[in-house]
Amino acid sequence: MSFFVRAMRESDIERVMTIAASLAEAPHWPREAYIAAIAPDSTLRRVALVAQFADGVAGFVVASVLAPQSELESIAVTSTAQRQGVATALLRELTGELSASGVEELLLELRASNARAADFYEQYGFMPAGRRRSYYQDPVEDALLLRLNLPKNKS
Ligand SMILES: CC(C)(COP(=O)(O)OP(=O)(O)OC[C@H]1O[C@@H](n2cnc3c(N)ncnc32)[C@H](O)[C@@H]1OP(=O)(O)O)[C@@H](O)C(=O)NCCC(=O)NCCS
Repeated sequence: MSFFVRAMRESDIERVMTIAASLAEAPHWPREAYIAAIAPDSTLRRVALVAQFADGVAGFVVASVLAPQSELESIAVTSTAQRQGVATALLRELTGELSASGVEELLLELRASNARAADFYEQYGFMPAGRRRSYYQDPVEDALLLRLNLPKNKS
């Protein structure tokens, strides 16, 4: 099935929260956090995108931007739409927008046990950038830090 990537809107938030809630590894943000993420006047600028299929939204990504760095805060694809390139398309659009905003480095941290996401990030080109001991709670677990260098915007 085909899909396209577009900016997240307030009307997407309920669906986005449902997707996150269905995936144990996804960050479970409250509604206000998504509202802040899409607000144009937030103190911390964010890029929030969704993958739109004919029958609805199936995935999303949120990154905070503090050029020349950005942090990938959340990415999730509903289980029935996984392994179809949805997260890859979300990241491609995200990194394009970030490069255009002067971001040169995209960083993220993930639970050391999240092998599925680690495989995904590795194939996309992220490199290991460190480890934070006992960073996560419930259950306590190390965080792996990953980094992706973005091409410099020549315009
Ligand atoms: C990680 C996640 C976002 C990947 O989404 P996706 O849309 O299925 O990813 P893609 O289809 O773009 O995958 C691209 C490539 O990544 C790798 N990959 C993705 N999922 C994988 C898995 N379960 N096992 C092994 N490799 C995987 C593969 O190389 C894949 O290419 P292929 O399908 O041709 O083999 C999705 O599994 C997910 O939502 N997980 C739960 C939430 C989460 O962990 N988020 C990250 C922490 S915030």
